[in-house]
Amino acid sequence: MRYLTFALAKGRLAKTAMEMFKKIGIQCEEMEDEKTRKLIFVNEELKLRFFLAKASDVPTYVEYGAADIGIVGKDTILEEDRKLYEVLDLGFGKCKMCVCGPESARELLNNHGMIRVASKYTKIAKDYFYNKKHQTVEIIKLNGSVELAPIVGLSEVIVDIVETGTTLKENGLGVLEEVCPLSARMVVNQVSMKMEDERIRKIIADLKEVINN
Ligand code: PRP
Repeated sequence: MRYLTFALAKGRLAKTAMEMFKKIGIQCEEMEDEKTRKLIFVNEELKLRFFLAKASDVPTYVEYGAADIGIVGKDTILEEDRKLYEVLDLGFGKCKMCVCGPESARELLNNHGMIRVASKYTKIAKDYFYNKKHQTVEIIKLNGSVELAPIVGLSEVIVDIVETGTTLKENGLGVLEEVCPLSARMVVNQVSMKMEDERIRKIIADLKEVINN
């Protein structure tokens, strides 16, 4: 039997995903040691390997088959737009992709003016404004703390993830429009889905039971 390799987006998603895997009998003790600097973890008995990667790299590992299975947020899947199968909504890490800004920016969105949109998610932002709203905007790429942009005058609005809404509220901003709901997803390499059909289908079925109970 060959190893099935999992790429997990490091951080909260990976932790919750491993707790979920534990419930279906898939575990990896080595990974629970929070001080470890190891990058790859093996369960010899089940012939499974796990590694943690930067979220935006997970779809890349899966597309190229370096990982058979990936656990990553829908935001990253949309932004990276890789060739892979999205097979399951894991139902955790729920949040929303939104257009946010000060209340005063609302009318700029309504009358389709030329505005600047700052985001870490330029593809999602572009797709939303160009293909859905048919509004020409200038997209400005940022790498974090995106809420700063409308405060300091870099852009009129932002496209960003909203979970509790606290970051927006504490900075005098709000949700102006909702782009799409987000949550953690399981993705599978297209060749692995055929070659390891039985093992992968079993994992999906077991996870579905956990999700629905
Ligand atoms: C994310 C997102 C928002 C924040 C939303 O940032 O970009 O800034 O969380 O959460 P809230 O609605 O619960 O306040 P993250 O912590 O991932 O860091 P970033 O600033 O680097 O994007």
